[in-house]
Amino acid sequence: MEIIIMENAAEIGEAAGKLFVKAIQKKPDIVLGLATGASPVPTYQYISAACQKGEVSLRDVRTYNLDEYVGLPRNDKNSYYTFMHEQLFNHTDIQEQNVHFLDGNATDVEAECRSYDDQLDKAHIDIQLLGIGRNGHIGFNEPSICFTKGAFKVKLTESTIDANSKYFDENPMPHYALTMGIGSIMKAKKIVMIATGSAKADAMAAMIKGEVTPVCPASILQFHPNVVVYLDKAAAKLL
Ligand code: PGA
Repeated sequence: MEIIIMENAAEIGEAAGKLFVKAIQKKPDIVLGLATGASPVPTYQYISAACQKGEVSLRDVRTYNLDEYVGLPRNDKNSYYTFMHEQLFNHTDIQEQNVHFLDGNATDVEAECRSYDDQLDKAHIDIQLLGIGRNGHIGFNEPSICFTKGAFKVKLTESTIDANSKYFDENPMPHYALTMGIGSIMKAKKIVMIATGSAKADAMAAMIKGEVTPVCPASILQFHPNVVVYLDKAAAKLL
């Protein structure tokens, strides 16, 4: 695991953004696993700006997002589909048919999850971007008694609801989501994690220094051969 401690979120956004831009320039049809939340926003701003300046094109890039809320209309302002379009896709030349999400409104959840797993297996993600929950979740793989393999419907924990409900000013936050499984995340060729702020310090310490346990799902990344972790000083304070 390569651990890179930087001053603040803006610096991390630039460094991680450069990593993605270079990777896309090198492999224009790269397959990216993407994350939502506050952590990747500066990175998405960097990639968007590079695309606007003509330094990189996302025309042939394919993306697979980690997770989606259950029961929100796709175009709801709080859906991760909307988030990704507002934060990244709308500012680039990516083709809509190349962006993929779990369908949080699927009537047959099991079929939807198996179909996403099949797509991921065929696509073989080159770089997976991750944030981390205060409780050590990756995607929406919450602390559990075992590591998950494929995509599934998850009941969100109080910690996650507490962290994310601030974004839901009109309607209550959904308590369920569909998420990529840990097994699929681990199959990515490279993983880039971003963690900023002191609320992530415990999770960072558990992930990097703790035992590998599904109680801290991110700890499994200790077994991945190619992980880069960008964190700011506040998130690194217990390392
Ligand atoms: P955040 O969420 O980037 O908004 O802190 C990260 C996560 O919950 O995985």
